[in-house]
Amino acid sequence: MRMVDLIIKKRDGYELTEEEIKYIIHGYINNEIPDYQISAFLMSVFFKGMTEREQLSFTMEMLNSGERVDLSKINGVTCDKHSTGGVGDKTSLVVIPLASACGVKMAKMSGRGLGHTGGTLDKLESIPGFKIEMDPDEFFNQINDIGLAIIGQTANIAPADKLLYSLRDVTGTIESIPLIASSIMSKKIASGADTIVLDVKVGEGAFMKNLESAEKLAKAMVKIGNLAGRKTVATLTDMNEPLGCAVGNSVEIIEAIETLKGRGPKDFSFLCMSFVKEILMITGMAKDENDAEIQANDALNSGRGLEQLRKMIEHQHGDPRVIDNYELLNTSKDVVDIKYNGLKSYIKNLHALKIGEAAMLLGAGRETKEDKVDLGVGIVLRKKVGDIVNNGDVIATLYTNHKNIDRAIQMVNDAFEYSINEVPEINKILEIVR
Ligand code: URA
Repeated sequence: MRMVDLIIKKRDGYELTEEEIKYIIHGYINNEIPDYQISAFLMSVFFKGMTEREQLSFTMEMLNSGERVDLSKINGVTCDKHSTGGVGDKTSLVVIPLASACGVKMAKMSGRGLGHTGGTLDKLESIPGFKIEMDPDEFFNQINDIGLAIIGQTANIAPADKLLYSLRDVTGTIESIPLIASSIMSKKIASGADTIVLDVKVGEGAFMKNLESAEKLAKAMVKIGNLAGRKTVATLTDMNEPLGCAVGNSVEIIEAIETLKGRGPKDFSFLCMSFVKEILMITGMAKDENDAEIQANDALNSGRGLEQLRKMIEHQHGDPRVIDNYELLNTSKDVVDIKYNGLKSYIKNLHALKIGEAAMLLGAGRETKEDKVDLGVGIVLRKKVGDIVNNGDVIATLYTNHKNIDRAIQMVNDAFEYSINEVPEINKILEIVR
């Protein structure tokens, strides 16, 4: 086999065989095929796409390039939840405790934030002492004991994807639906859970900017997951305005805890409950949607979800007192309110990307993998799309250690757009792909 023939085959729109895809991935990770040929191949995939069969082979080859996590030591049905990343997305911190309170074994390997999207691991590290590293036996034991764990990726998962992703990043081939789908699913399938619940964000603050492309991505991932023997469901959710009100690290932990106490922002609470229901249905813990709703509400209202979070913090060496005393979290030195100046209006748009960038300016995110995150800084939005504002109302509060404060204030002001006419709230759930 010659790589140049496979590039031409793909360039001309023909389907590659399983053997051919294997040859490409093996050749690349073994340094037998150079970057320039893989780049040409990726570009031809970008333009010609991949068939379902090709996507499955590509996914399986990437996942076979590394270790698979074997979750068979966990008693009960396991589930992994994954989000394609957004601004203010602290969903896992609420959904995982609630689903585990209903009996699902939630085994979550999370990532760090990059760019304007935050990462669950950074958020958890704003809890003093919280450990995100664990050896596999500790991970299994904790899930068997208390039903949940959120840790950093331990095993050498899909190394081919890591190499290809770096190449895609510098060759203009990130935004290819088959490449994104196989990249995400190779890691999810390797992580070992029986069922996978995906949150595909749609909008300006997300990878997928419109519903049509997000729908294609969701369908591709669900198909790959199901063909690989993992029950998979994807929800398409809005990411034009930030999710909930808090954007940062410790501020998002506070919002997650408040949500588990039943006092979360309406949009965020609604989305979390919808994910819990999906998890209960896909894992078979609920017999139908109505049963799922009853169980999810009970986990929240009884406080069992909150207790699950407390247990997880305790088991992972964090200080569980943060649940009742937010001052124990990493906090900022200063707080600055931003006020609205003008006639009575409605919030028409609240641009997620700008809020994400403002949080980055304050130091809440990282530009490159090596950057250090300031866990105490962030933004809490006091108004969201559809809300009324009067002159002098606080629209957002910045938690700051003085880095780039003027630019951040400007960016937050730019994120808000107003209308004198009434504006409906944004419906967060756009579609569910089962
Ligand atoms: N996230 C991934 O893991 N892979 C992609 O290709 C895009 C987003």
